[in-house]
Amino acid sequence: MDRYAVFGNPISHSKSPAIHTEFAQQTSQSLTYEAICAPVGKFAASVDAFLADGGKGLNVTVPFKEDAWKMAEICSERAQLAGAVNTLYLNDQGQLCGENTDGVGMVRDIQDNYGYKMAGKRVLILGAGGAVRGVIRPVLEQNPREVVIANRTLSKAETLAGLFAPYGHVSASAFDALEGPFDLIINGTAASLQGEMPTLPEGMIHPKTWCYDMMYSAGQTPFNRWAEHQGAYQQLDGLGMLVEQAAESFYIWRGVRPDTAGLINHLRSQILNH
Ligand code: ATR
Repeated sequence: MDRYAVFGNPISHSKSPAIHTEFAQQTSQSLTYEAICAPVGKFAASVDAFLADGGKGLNVTVPFKEDAWKMAEICSERAQLAGAVNTLYLNDQGQLCGENTDGVGMVRDIQDNYGYKMAGKRVLILGAGGAVRGVIRPVLEQNPREVVIANRTLSKAETLAGLFAPYGHVSASAFDALEGPFDLIINGTAASLQGEMPTLPEGMIHPKTWCYDMMYSAGQTPFNRWAEHQGAYQQLDGLGMLVEQAAESFYIWRGVRPDTAGLINHLRSQILNH
């Protein structure tokens, strides 16, 4: 059986093995998928050992996405711009290739699962860390009218805006200098993890604004609570993004696109029942 894995540290709570095992069953692909906790500082050696042992491909999560980017011999344009890789595989020549499916996964969740089209829209992205850097190019590919990146540390938002300026209308802002309203607001800050929500000025939201948190949780995230309070039309979380980025990796490895809707619903009920 072909062997795949997700590498991270810690990794025991990863949902990727369950997701990929479900995809494999659904598409009748013969493969195994395990979670591997690589020692920090030993990522490349762990991956080499896995591939030498017959591993066909792997996902990469915190804190190794940048290591994976450095390790890949060939990177897609998206992965290159993201400066991070979450999917590694060997091509026919035996070269290690890196891709980043996070942004594609998020865009597919918003546009295909929820049916919200970004073309022509005014989009605000909160945060300027690794998670945000990974999604900007796929968002710009949808031809939004404008993307504003707002971050607590303005200089990081400015760096990202400069990096992605060749690909669309993108600018940087401090939180308190934001001028709304926006059609779509995406939260990519790690603030939710601490149960926090950055303070934003009034007027960010109009009655048709959609809000999307890249995080997910059993209850409402602090960002989505804020969005509801402000009267947003929709408040969505990133569970679908998790499944869609996995589906995209699966497609890269196996050439088959699994169905995602049933699995997203199943995971949602599991999370709510815990
Ligand atoms: P990740 O890989 O999750 O993106 P990261 O690269 O460390 O992690 O980036 C974390 C992001 O969340 C940054 O944009 C950070 O803002 P700063 O650049 O100013 O540090 C943002 N962030 C974290 N905690 C936050 C908080 N309490 N309020 C606002 N922004 C926060």
